[in-house]
This record gives sequence, C-alpha cells and structure tokens, in this order.
Amino acid sequence: MGNLLILSTAFLCLCLFVALLYVLYKYWWVPHRVQFIMNSQGIRGPPYEFIHGNNKEALQMQKEASSKPMALTHDIFPRVMPYDYSCIKKYGKNYLSWNGVRAQLVITDPELVKEVLKNSEKAFSKPKPLYFFKKLLGDTIPTINSEKWARHRKLANHAFHGESLKIVKQREEKVMTGEVDSFGHDFLGLLVNAYHDPDEKNRLSIQDVVDWQDKARAEVVEVFGNQNPNSEGITKLKTITMIINETLRLYPPINSVVRKAVRDVQLGNLVLPNCLDLNIRFIALHHDPALWGDDVHLFKPERFAEGIAKATNNNAVAFMPFGMGHRSCVGMSFSITETKIALSMILQRYTFTLSPTYVHAPLPNLSLKPQHGLHLLFHSLD
Ligand code: HEM
Repeated sequence: MGNLLILSTAFLCLCLFVALLYVLYKYWWVPHRVQFIMNSQGIRGPPYEFIHGNNKEALQMQKEASSKPMALTHDIFPRVMPYDYSCIKKYGKNYLSWNGVRAQLVITDPELVKEVLKNSEKAFSKPKPLYFFKKLLGDTIPTINSEKWARHRKLANHAFHGESLKIVKQREEKVMTGEVDSFGHDFLGLLVNAYHDPDEKNRLSIQDVVDWQDKARAEVVEVFGNQNPNSEGITKLKTITMIINETLRLYPPINSVVRKAVRDVQLGNLVLPNCLDLNIRFIALHHDPALWGDDVHLFKPERFAEGIAKATNNNAVAFMPFGMGHRSCVGMSFSITETKIALSMILQRYTFTLSPTYVHAPLPNLSLKPQHGLHLLFHSLD
C-alpha cells in the first residue's frame, strides 16, 4: 500500500515536472530564442513578456485611443493602430512584437513586403486562422491553403467574372417581378441579398470634399444622365475612380495581412526562423511620407489622375488595399463596381455634407469602421 502511494506520488511529480518543462520551453525558451535570433540580426522590438507577449500594452493603448475622437484629419494611423505606430517610431520600419507567445515580424519596408507577397519561393503561407476567425469564416478561401485553396479560388474567379455578374442582374429582375421570392441562398444569392440590405448602415457611402463631389456629379451626369448606371458607362468614370482610390489609400478597409514562414527562410538580409508570423501593415505604407510625399495625409484624388502605376511611381506596395500576389482579393472588381454604382446613384439624386453630429473616430474592427457611424446630411436635388 505504502509502495503504491510512493509510486503514484512520484508519477504525479514526474507529470508535473514534465508539464512545467513544457510550459517553460514553449512560453519562455522558444520566445527568448527567437528574440535572440532576431535581435542579433538588428531587428529590435518591445521585449517578450511571459505568456501575454505585448498584448496587454497594445490593448491598453488601443483602448485609450478609441476612448476619444480625433481631429478631422486623415492622419489616422496613430489612432487606428497606436501600438504599431509607436513601435515603428521607436524601433524602425521592421520590428519584432509578440501576439501572446506568437512571434510577429511586423514589416513595413517596401522591399521586404514585396518579397513576402510575391512569395516566389513558396516560403510564406497564410497561418492557421485564430479561433475567432475560424468560427467566423469557416473553411473558406481566405483561411485555407494548398490544393483546396486553388480549387476554391478558381471557382471564385469564375463567379466574379463579368459574365457571371450578369446572372446577378437576371436574378434581381426575377425577384422584382415576383417570379421568385428570394435572391437565393447560394454564393451569388448571398451577395445580392447584401446589396439589397434594408439596414442603411450596411450600405457603402463616403465622406467627400465639396469640390470633388461637384466634379464627380458632373461626370456621372455626363456619362449616365439620369439613367441607371450601366456597365459600359462604369468604365468611363475617371474622377470617381480617382476618388475611390484616394479613399482606399487613406482609409484602407483591411489594415494588414499575415503570412507565416513555412520553413527557415531568407528575407532580404534576414534569416527567419520557421515559427515566425509576418505581419504586413498596409496602412503604414499608405501613410508613409517617404512613398507619398509631405502631403501624404491630404485627400488629393488627383494623385491618381494618370492611374495607380503613376501615382505610386511603379511601386506596387505603396498602394494595395486589396492585397498583392496570388492571395490578393478575389472581390476587388466586384466591390469597386458596386461602389461606383452606389456613388453614381447617390450623386444623381442628392448633394451631401457631413452632419455637425459626425465624430471622426475611425476604428479597426475586423475592417476599418467609423466608430460612431457616418453621419451625413442629404439634400435632394429634385
Ligand atoms: C473594399 C472592399 C474589399 C477590400 C478592401 C478587400 C481586401 C482584401 C484583402 C487585402 C485581401 C488579401 C488578404 C491576404 O492577402 O491575406 C482580400 C482577400 C479576399 N477577399 Fe477581399 N476585399 C474587399 C471586398 C471583397 C468582396 C466584396 C469579396 C467577395 C464577395 C471579397 C473576397 C475576398 C476573398 C475570398 C479573399 C481571399 C483570397 C485568397 O485568399 O485567395 N473581398 N480582400
């Protein structure tokens, strides 16, 4: 009996010891090793804190920034990502930070960003989504990899091709004439439902500058008169394209994307250990005066007058609201067309200004959102 008690106590102690070793290995040894490897290559960053990494400090800064509105300027990076903003100032364009125990190399250096997103060596993949994203998105294109991703992506490319979008129109007409009673429950059906969302806050709108609003309206009237927008006219909307691009530059709906080094890999002069996540902050590139000039925070759609390549000086990573490379957004044309249609139809009917009740408070909440809504005053043109 005594022997059994000694044995089970020894076994329990052994289990506890192994568990302790595992915790120390995972939460202390590995992070310190990664930190040492990166520090020795000149990459600095806020030091790793046991288990929570830098999350406490980052959350605290985010909470503080979100607690008050900002001045009515487009210099939104310090409010939207205060922790990243302060780290870039302190440690430089690329730095190491800690999302809990996960090491993240945050990169905003254009050359490194290009290398990761081009991914010619297939060295970087999408990491497994966090539990919350997995629940939200399930096994869909943004969260899967390899052959399964290739199959789904091919289908999606087909679904968003111009010809397929015409099917959307036919389906809308059938609902309007009462031939069928819903938009359907498949992929396209869900999209059409979203477009017809009765909840006004789900529809897209933009804050505009009066002059640009007048120019945009003049263009819409010239192209469509008072007719509904059509696909041929959509391609002629130059001013509206410039306005959409400048808005996406200043307010990128997706602020960053994440990749994972699938093996020990060379990136620029750096050798990265395979457990590293790479976090690319679009918003930092879109707001970088070195790429856009001293007027970087001004709303100047004329930057895009001669197209994106000219505006960015042929530097593709200076402007990438829809990502870059083979995992870039499959819904890009769809969402730009949708925006052009919505904007044209609003401009044909209303002038609009900011309401005095509007509070400028952009907030990253899955995508970038106005924290207290977008209050506009519409005046009918009739
Ligand atoms: C203004 C609107 C939108 C923006 C700014 C946007 C932005 C992005 C970005 C930045 C990515 C790249 C993610 C990465 O590299 O990890 C992406 C991927 C994706 N987007 Fe969008 N998106 C928009 C609208 C849409 C719409 C309307 C759809 C579909 C209805 C869509 C479907 C997708 C899908 C399926 C992917 C994953 C592609 C892949 O992994 O191969 N997006 N989007």
